[in-house]
Amino acid sequence: MGDSTPLLSVRDLTVTFPTRRGPVRAVDSLSFDVLPGRTLGIVGESGSGKSVTSLAVLGLHTGAAEVTGSVTLAGRELIGLPERELNRLRGRRMAMIFQDPLSSLHPYYTVGEQIAEHHRVHFGSRRAAARERAVEALGEVGIPEPRRRAGEYPHQFSGGMRQRVMIAMALACEPDLLIADEPTTALDVTVQAQILELIARLQRERGLSVVMITHDLGVVARVAHDVLVMYGGRAAEHAPVDALFEAPAHPYTRGLLDSLPRLDDHDDTPLRAIPGSPPSLLDPAPGCAFAPRCSRAAAGSEEERARCTGERPLLGGPEGHPAACHFPAYEGVAS
Ligand SMILES: Nc1ncnc2c1ncn2[C@@H]1O[C@H](COP(=O)(O)OP(=O)(O)OP(=O)(O)O)[C@@H](O)[C@H]1O
Ligand SMILES: [Mg+2]
Repeated sequence: MGDSTPLLSVRDLTVTFPTRRGPVRAVDSLSFDVLPGRTLGIVGESGSGKSVTSLAVLGLHTGAAEVTGSVTLAGRELIGLPERELNRLRGRRMAMIFQDPLSSLHPYYTVGEQIAEHHRVHFGSRRAAARERAVEALGEVGIPEPRRRAGEYPHQFSGGMRQRVMIAMALACEPDLLIADEPTTALDVTVQAQILELIARLQRERGLSVVMITHDLGVVARVAHDVLVMYGGRAAEHAPVDALFEAPAHPYTRGLLDSLPRLDDHDDTPLRAIPGSPPSLLDPAPGCAFAPRCSRAAAGSEEERARCTGERPLLGGPEGHPAACHFPAYEGVAS
């Protein structure tokens, strides 16, 4: 089966937070695969459940969150695994980088010490060897003079360089899966492009699988092979990146694409954001969560609108490009 066997397989993942106002279902019956050496982009607006999904994959939800469904890494079920086992897998098989590297780096230790310590914890390597590995890792992510910079503290690095440090730390243990949650959101566009190029290069060179979480379809276009569009904690559309950009099936995806800035935009072209606001997760409407904001639903007949607002659409349609919409715009299909 080789490369067609998924490295990561997520099935019916559901994450619920009990709150004083009632249960919040932040992720609802989500399923996806990540193949070896491929990058899956997960996109959606703020609050659509992207981070909750990635934390669930890594087993990082604590206490109150109720997590059900299945998450397998190389065939091994992670949900329900004891914390000690999960800890071993995190770092050695899967690693994560976040939007804000400062929150994951300790201010009082040099970056070299922190990467070395991370390596020692996961591999039991000797201090000198771990230290060497840290310098090497800093070099691999394009930090100039890695030996000297290994002796510096996080605040001595720029935002982009700090994100490189985080990537070096994540990759020092040679994981199979890298989960990147908005890794470039806090960076200016030039540095953003450099970091994305770095992740794409490491992905190619090491045959890494990557989950790239972002609210920005532009980021997805640069690095992803496949895309999962999330809305209100559910999958709205799932497709290879070219198919998604050429023929978005879900009106929400269409809306996201329309809100991308274009090369031929003039300075005075207003940003075409999708009107309306994200759905409430506290008491979800019975129908399609996107219906209140959907131009397709608004343009439909009374009967069609009743279907959109009354009946929840299931993920369906052509294999390889399903969408959760009653009236998806598949190419060549009247909708
Ligand atoms: N511990 C928690 N308790 C209650 N609700 C939570 C908790 N963590 C997350 N949520 C809710 O789950 C929903 C999804 O959150 P999540 O952080 O996954 O969104 P996101 O897609 O990553 O958004 P962003 O783009 O802003 O990072 C949000 O409505 C959020 O308020
Ligand atoms: Mg998030």
